[in-house]
Amino acid sequence: MKAIVTGGAGFIGSHVVDLLVSDGVDVVIVDNLSTGQEAYLNPKAKLVRADIRQTDAWKHEVKDCDYFFHLAALPRIQPSFDEPVEHEDVNVIGTIRCLEAVKGSGIKKFVYSSSSAIYGNTERIPTPEDTPPQLLNPYALEKYAGEQYALILGERFAIPVIALRYFNVYGPRSFNPKNPFNAYSSVIGIFNDQCRRGVPLTVTGDGSQRRDCIHVTDVARANYAAARSTLALRSYNVGCGNNYSVQEVAELFSPNITHIAERKGEARVTVADVSRIADELNWKASIDLPEGVRLMKQLWQAAPPSRRDTAAAPEPRSEANASL
Ligand SMILES: NC(=O)c1ccc[n+]([C@@H]2O[C@H](COP(=O)([O-])OP(=O)(O)OC[C@H]3O[C@@H](n4cnc5c(N)ncnc54)[C@H](O)[C@@H]3O)[C@@H](O)[C@H]2O)c1
Repeated sequence: MKAIVTGGAGFIGSHVVDLLVSDGVDVVIVDNLSTGQEAYLNPKAKLVRADIRQTDAWKHEVKDCDYFFHLAALPRIQPSFDEPVEHEDVNVIGTIRCLEAVKGSGIKKFVYSSSSAIYGNTERIPTPEDTPPQLLNPYALEKYAGEQYALILGERFAIPVIALRYFNVYGPRSFNPKNPFNAYSSVIGIFNDQCRRGVPLTVTGDGSQRRDCIHVTDVARANYAAARSTLALRSYNVGCGNNYSVQEVAELFSPNITHIAERKGEARVTVADVSRIADELNWKASIDLPEGVRLMKQLWQAAPPSRRDTAAAPEPRSEANASL
């Protein structure tokens, strides 16, 4: 089996790569390393260092490929307001370029990384997949457009597409020291980093906003389940099906908490309805949030305190796999 993983040097993509490699799949990573890290690259995977939009640089790899996992993106909400053209180009045009590259290749599955951001502030809680989108920011709009392009072009050109709508993904490597938009990365990655450095945890607003948080190794499993399924042209929520307030999440890490200004354009409450993915892909979350936080803290607590506060060292690959 051979798979291409775009964004395989990033947070979620590197875990997808690890899972595939551990199951004997030959993996080719397409990543321009704009925010991805060499330290996250699986040594058994081949890297084509290229922009997803420059398909000439990597299209030859599609020929004998079974699965295509498309994760490369500019995945931050607040920066998508500041640079909407670049975000649109990578997140939407980049996705279309990937679909064009696999057209006619006979791949068994194209797994698209979508987002729960498309549900906005819906009142349908828990939120099933047929909920109308409520697009509160450019990022949500782009992820939804990418998903719809994948499904529409997939149907027309017989590309077996599955879209996975991730809720808040967390786990090892979620806090990326190279990413200039770290302040907007997953709240759990920020809390973990602040806790490690012994500084106050910055809770936005009053911390009452609630999030369905899903561990990254469960998200990797969902990708593989989607790839191996015979179903296609479907969208699935990937979440735990429960939620925690941001204040509660912070308290799982440390009592050392401070509050900062609320951010506009983000959802108040998210909870996935996970019945469709359970019924159709036989997938459910295996790590709940308290256990996931314990696993994250375990990775750095083993280090002596004098070495814990070194400025944002990359979270290691090998230890991270312990939670697989
Ligand atoms: N992290 C979450 O909570 C979350 C939630 C919902 C959806 N998603 C989606 O999951 C996917 C992965 O997100 P992540 O959190 O791992 O992000 P990430 O920033 O850690 O990884 C993205 C990777 O894509 C690469 N990349 C960016 N632009 C590229 C381009 N033009 N060409 C080639 N490579 C490029 C980066 O170098 C990086 O390695 C994204 O599609 C994102 O929208 C993430």
